[in-house]
Amino acid sequence: MTLRNSDHSWGGIAKVLHWLIAAMILGMFVLGWIAVNYPMSPTKIKLFTWHKSFGITILMLALLRMAWRFLDPPPASSAHAPVWERQLARTSHALLYLAMIAMPVSGWIINSAANFPLKLFGLIRLPDIVPADKTLQTQAEFVHLSLFWILVALLILHVGAALWHHIVRRDDILTRMLPGTTRGAKEPVE
Ligand code: HEM
Ligand code: HEM
Repeated sequence: MTLRNSDHSWGGIAKVLHWLIAAMILGMFVLGWIAVNYPMSPTKIKLFTWHKSFGITILMLALLRMAWRFLDPPPASSAHAPVWERQLARTSHALLYLAMIAMPVSGWIINSAANFPLKLFGLIRLPDIVPADKTLQTQAEFVHLSLFWILVALLILHVGAALWHHIVRRDDILTRMLPGTTRGAKEPVE
């Protein structure tokens, strides 16, 4: 498997970052809901500690992924795709990147505004990014929750599009993102 993208396929680094971040975000949805609904106890605090540390890790991986995308340009989109489809793909991908950053940053704002200490996996103390402020905390909680639903909607569109490419258009947009595929893209079947 080549590490860099080719003209037609994703390289190993982009694939690992895509699937690692995807798995972590889905895990965070579950962890977030369990932590919020858990009765107040040391376990609840522990669940939030994990939620916050994994969330900051996602933020770092997302920044790394964006830097890598800049260094290693993505493969071309399907030559047969109409302009609206390419624009929808580009816009939804940009919104996914934005959500990958905004989701953990809004969590970090909740934490700082609530004046909770933030320690990455109990090891590295991270600074507060806003001053303690109850109103700001409530607003950031609202943003964090809204972003969750926005991300769910974007993911329904994203996964739906990937399956549509695979099942209806029968091109290799999905397979070129899967592990172990480095071939050039097939042309879609019209
Ligand atoms: C939280 C979960 C996910 C996030 C945040 C996410 C995000 C993204 C982003 C931002 C891109 C664009 C990459 C770029 O242009 O640099 C992308 C590409 C892609 N994603 Fe996801 N993704 C997720 C889950 C999934 C899942 C579950 C599938 C499959 C069912 C999938 C299939 C794909 C495919 C096939 C591409 C490549 C599209 C192309 O080659 O043009 N993704 N993803
Ligand atoms: C991609 C990263 C993240 C995802 C997908 C995520 C997801 C979620 C979800 C689904 C919830 C439950 C729904 C809600 O009440 O908002 C939640 C709650 C929460 N998250 Fe995150 N989160 C992420 C990152 C973070 C980070 C980095 C922090 C803090 C440093 C954080 C702090 C919190 C807090 C304090 C709550 C409880 C909010 C409340 O009581 O209303 N999250 N998160």
